[in-house]
Amino acid sequence: MSDDGTTRGRFLTLSSVGLGSVIGGVIGVPATAYILAPVTEEITFKPVSVGKTSTFTGEKGFAPTAVTFVEDPTSPATSVQLAYVHYTGKSNTDWLAPDAMFVVFSNHCTHMGCPVLATSLGFGCPCHGSQFNQEGARIAGPAVRALDRFQWKVQKGELILTNKWSTDFQNGKLEYFPVKNPGQPVDVFGSTLLADILYPHVTYTHGPVPKEQS
Ligand code: FES
Repeated sequence: MSDDGTTRGRFLTLSSVGLGSVIGGVIGVPATAYILAPVTEEITFKPVSVGKTSTFTGEKGFAPTAVTFVEDPTSPATSVQLAYVHYTGKSNTDWLAPDAMFVVFSNHCTHMGCPVLATSLGFGCPCHGSQFNQEGARIAGPAVRALDRFQWKVQKGELILTNKWSTDFQNGKLEYFPVKNPGQPVDVFGSTLLADILYPHVTYTHGPVPKEQS
């Protein structure tokens, strides 16, 4: 297995449900740990289907559907991921459009990576109490940014995840960023440049950072 696969495998293990018992007493933002962590090699997100769009369009209110998928087909045992698909009730299949059909959230809490749980109000993390609203914005707890989101497309009636981005709300506007690890903010004292210097780990190769359409 590659170094990259090993790193991601370890990350996924830490992200699993057992993490709460291991780190239950650790409340502080783990910035130092991530600064000291080895630099993570970039990986390329491989497009993956999470099922027919009709699987998700029955959602009423805010009740995102949990889907699992294998991120790295060469390491299926260690790269199972979970995402939450929220059907907005709209119909645009352009994922950046204001009336986009879906929003697909990562289930990794942006504090230390515990799996968040969907509620009717948004998402909650059982480890240290971080709360996120229905847009994935942090509203309480030690998480350092909004939930990551998956880029997606619809192809032959299937919902395909095509990339992953970190997000945050800056002046109330959703902004996308290259993926950072849990514990890594996208800005420090209002500076994204300072955040990139202090927390340089980018885990996915990417093209231009997307901008939400207005
Ligand atoms: S991992 Fe600590 S609040 Fe989620």
